[in-house]
Amino acid sequence: MKAVVYKEPFKVVVENVDDPTLLHPNDVIVQVTSTCICGSDLHMYEGRTAAQPGIVFGHENMGTVVELGNAVTTLKQGDRVVMPFNVGCGFCKNCERGFTGFCLTVNPGFAGGAYGYVAMGPYPGGQAEYVRVPYADFNCLVLPAGTEHEADFALLADIFPTGYHGAYLAEVQPGESVAVFGAGPVGIMAAYSCIIRGATEVYSVDRVPERLEVARKIGAIPINFDQGDPVEQIIAMRDGEGVDKGIDAVGYQACGAQAAREIPNTVLSDLTRVVNATGILGIPGLYVPSDPGGVDENAKQGLLLMPFGKMFEKGLVLKTGQCNVKRYNRYLRDLIIAGKAKPSFVVSHEVPLSEAPMAYEKFDKRIDGYTKVILKPTQG
Ligand SMILES: NC(=O)c1ccc[n+]([C@@H]2O[C@H](COP(=O)([O-])OP(=O)(O)OC[C@H]3O[C@@H](n4cnc5c(N)ncnc54)[C@H](O)[C@@H]3O)[C@@H](O)[C@H]2O)c1
Ligand SMILES: [Zn+2]
Ligand SMILES: [Zn+2]
Repeated sequence: MKAVVYKEPFKVVVENVDDPTLLHPNDVIVQVTSTCICGSDLHMYEGRTAAQPGIVFGHENMGTVVELGNAVTTLKQGDRVVMPFNVGCGFCKNCERGFTGFCLTVNPGFAGGAYGYVAMGPYPGGQAEYVRVPYADFNCLVLPAGTEHEADFALLADIFPTGYHGAYLAEVQPGESVAVFGAGPVGIMAAYSCIIRGATEVYSVDRVPERLEVARKIGAIPINFDQGDPVEQIIAMRDGEGVDKGIDAVGYQACGAQAAREIPNTVLSDLTRVVNATGILGIPGLYVPSDPGGVDENAKQGLLLMPFGKMFEKGLVLKTGQCNVKRYNRYLRDLIIAGKAKPSFVVSHEVPLSEAPMAYEKFDKRIDGYTKVILKPTQG
């Protein structure tokens, strides 16, 4: 089958790899109809991780069940399904409590597994014609048959739940004010989720005009950090007050104003400044234990300076980590079906799998409006 294979920094190709096979009676094989490129894929694409050449990317997968192991009980051939990017077993101590992003079974020696991701276990990615899904009864969320809402449902694999996770971690409540840093796909989904949860004022901080425009369209208040300290801008708009809650949807690749240079701790510091005393910081943005491409010796070791004294003084709560997609995806699916959420507004491009190399390049450079790309393996 055809698959997106990582070759070297800034180079992926579409080439033939072995078809996946059932390795366990609980597996299914899914023919992929939609698979998204993620900001997290770019960390590997840019050579910032230990990802080795040959890895097949793709953790945001949906499609049709075509083959089933004989222990699979709740699925049948032809089911339309979307899989959380996390691979979970469903029965370990963490999965049992809803922390499926930290499964103890699927990736021995590490809490958590995912498809097509460095260090996340032996699960080839789904930017391919087919993907093997382990513990399939647990990991497949069945969708209504047909083709309706395809792009909305594809986003249930990662960014809609992950954005929602930011709002959930920050415990966003009706009527609250929230500052969301980052208006990439995850940040936009976080702002959207805050609005769904009833926040009154949602500030969306970024520097990319098209992304800020998307934020404005969904009812968030755009803040361009190239036009001045975003914290001061928000506080000025709120007559001197900060916000109730904060979300970091940027991660360790955060930049300073005007500068191309990364300042990995800048968003964490800004959140500490902008969130009012006793507030909560929800941090789905990704930080790594070590970043070989980091800007200085501390960053290379994954060490970041945080204004911890200020956090103590303000009694702030900080919550972070991978999204436990299973905790939310069923409910977010039902919001989509009920017409109460339509996350696909964030999708900028849908292209055949064969165009993945071009899509990676443009998405990585943030050019031509490449915001969120869905690859369509059934279309070539
Ligand atoms: N926790 C999880 O489970 C999970 C899942 C998916 C993605 N992620 C992570 O979420 C983060 C966002 O993902 P994405 O796909 O939206 O990435 P993205 O790179 O498309 O978006 C990040 C945005 O942050 C903006 N930005 C940079 N510096 C900033 C600053 N100082 N202040 C405000 N905005 C700034 C950039 O301009 C960009 O638009 C990444 O770190 C990704 O790895 C986490
Ligand atoms: Zn992703
Ligand atoms: Zn588990």
